[in-house]
Amino acid sequence: MKLSSIPLLLASIFTCKAVSAYSSDYDSLLNDIVKSDYDSPSGGEGQVTLSSLSGLSTLSNLAKRDVEPYFKELDMFSFDNFEKLTKIKNMLADAQSNEMLGDALYLYNFMDRNGHSKSITLNDSSEFVTETCKFLSSYGLNNTEILASTASSSFLVDFYKNFEVSVCNANHKTTKREYVECSANHATNTESCKNLNESLKSRSEFLPGIRSWCSGACCISWSRDTYFTTAWARDKLQSCITFCIAPSGSCEWKDTGYFLQKFNFCVSNRSSGCR
Ligand SMILES: *[C@@H]1O[C@H](CO)[C@@H](O)[C@H](O)[C@H]1NC(C)=O
Ligand SMILES: *[C@@H]1O[C@H](CO)[C@@H](O)[C@H](O)[C@H]1NC(C)=O
Ligand SMILES: *[C@@H]1O[C@H](CO)[C@@H](O)[C@H](O)[C@H]1NC(C)=O
Ligand SMILES: *[C@@H]1O[C@H](CO)[C@@H](O)[C@H](O)[C@H]1NC(C)=O
Repeated sequence: MKLSSIPLLLASIFTCKAVSAYSSDYDSLLNDIVKSDYDSPSGGEGQVTLSSLSGLSTLSNLAKRDVEPYFKELDMFSFDNFEKLTKIKNMLADAQSNEMLGDALYLYNFMDRNGHSKSITLNDSSEFVTETCKFLSSYGLNNTEILASTASSSFLVDFYKNFEVSVCNANHKTTKREYVECSANHATNTESCKNLNESLKSRSEFLPGIRSWCSGACCISWSRDTYFTTAWARDKLQSCITFCIAPSGSCEWKDTGYFLQKFNFCVSNRSSGCR
């Protein structure tokens, strides 16, 4: 990711007026937030709730019907930042009605961190990189175009435009490596698993909400709600059939994952995992 242009943008902010359909309060506050200039506590205490941002139609166009949304409801009690969080909540409502998804992703993460930006500074080691990866993964996206085109702060636009999606996979590779474990627990058989392989033809992907897929005495199952393509699953199944099923009976891919999601993937005689 290239972020060297940020200082230049900093200089230009005083000379060019942000193009936006809504209030300059929103624009200047958003810029302060993403520059970490709005980090001191605002004071006030109280409860702030945020509904799941399902009003963003940009998002519902992306989301498959049963996708677990990236944006969850927030229900927070802030002891030091109530006033700030209330403002952010209003900004999120603005971002939502103006379809500014790129803004919403940052504001939501800022709100979720009780109005502190320390861990989500716009640089390439920030948690915001991980959050952006998670977001892309949740919606099966392989680039940040939609985020860049729906961000109104030039800092965010720059961040999204320079975002290298490959870092999502790179992060993933630095964590524990996947490995296969053959076992005799809940044994299935090659013939059933080949039938299961055939039955996968009817699908192109698995979305959150489904945790297993069975055909006869063979099931594939995974340890968390997640998203992956059928091609990915077939590849895992294929190696299981080759290396484990005939000699041992069942097979588990440990610490495997699609994109950033980490989970175990099991081939056995039941829908609820290998052990
Ligand atoms: C990048 O951001 C992280 C947290 O978001 C922070 O800890 C780190 O110091 C920042 N690095 C630079 C070079 O600013
Ligand atoms: C990204 O996704 C689009 C549509 O989903 C696809 O056509 C394209 O080949 C993908 N690109 C890469 C590099 O995976
Ligand atoms: C699955 O295998 C276990 C033994 O590993 C066996 O006890 C169980 O009955 C089998 N279940 C089915 C549905 O075949
Ligand atoms: C699984 O299905 C794919 C696609 O139909 C096929 O190429 C592959 O040979 C099958 N694998 C097994 C073990 O049957």
